[in-house]
Amino acid sequence: IIQFTNFMANSVFNDAYDLSFNYEKIPTEFYKNALEASKVVAKEIADLIRRKQAAGKPAVLGLATGNTPKLMYAELIRLHKEEGLSFKGVHTFNLDEYYPMQPDDINSYVRFMKTNLFDHIDIDMNNVNIPDGTIAKEDIAAFCQEYEAKIDAFGGLDIQVLGIGSNGHVGFNESGSHINSKTRLVALDYSTRYDARNDFGGLSKTPTVAISLGVHHIMNAKRVVLLAFGPGKTNIIHKACEGPVTEHVPASFLQTHPNVTFYLDEVAAAKLMKVQTPWLMGPVE
Ligand code: GLP
Repeated sequence: IIQFTNFMANSVFNDAYDLSFNYEKIPTEFYKNALEASKVVAKEIADLIRRKQAAGKPAVLGLATGNTPKLMYAELIRLHKEEGLSFKGVHTFNLDEYYPMQPDDINSYVRFMKTNLFDHIDIDMNNVNIPDGTIAKEDIAAFCQEYEAKIDAFGGLDIQVLGIGSNGHVGFNESGSHINSKTRLVALDYSTRYDARNDFGGLSKTPTVAISLGVHHIMNAKRVVLLAFGPGKTNIIHKACEGPVTEHVPASFLQTHPNVTFYLDEVAAAKLMKVQTPWLMGPVE
């Protein structure tokens, strides 16, 4: 059995061979490393942009921050610089922003997006949308409604890129977020603040709240791609993909999305049935 497992695992990692046979609750693809997976996702986004441009329509991208999508953004920049990918007519909506937060702050997601993508491509910055961490508290609810209305005016997001928090949050939709939750000011979990503490110079200086796109608009995206790499994601990927659908693990809601794929490296995928016990999933060739 051990030899068989190793054989199957090796064949999976060698060529991202699809063993799922539709038995997976969430379709997953995994690759030897984060770079390979990131290139696949970047290509999908580039293809979408080119398709939309050819049809004279806007491409509407939902974008994420965090360490995980950085390589994917680097590949999009490379495609722009070396392979003529233009971002003209592309509209973007970021998932979230800490509150309060100045756009030029080292930890602002506005700054993150500029540094990791927007400063290096030809996107019209008027088409870039990121939750505003500077607005007055009393204006947040109206801002969130407008943010959603703007997405709705496009007919929803064409693709939503996601990372995943160690507790299973997507965007900043923490454990307990409802599947129909709206864009709103959310209280950050202790685990989320703990994970971010080094960026802010300690837990006590780490924000306690953030503005986040709600689960509803994530689930409404026509396509969802979630990236997760490294040992810190192994357990939560297992829970999100193979555990029950529960608001305790908001990423598990994606089990009910009709067009979602998780792109993983082999470490993040290590506890999935597809790796551990592939013969339980259906016929193996
Ligand atoms: C933050 C972001 C999420 C991101 C998560 C994981 O909480 N709001 O969008 O997915 O961090 O970050 P990382 O990719 O650095 O592990």
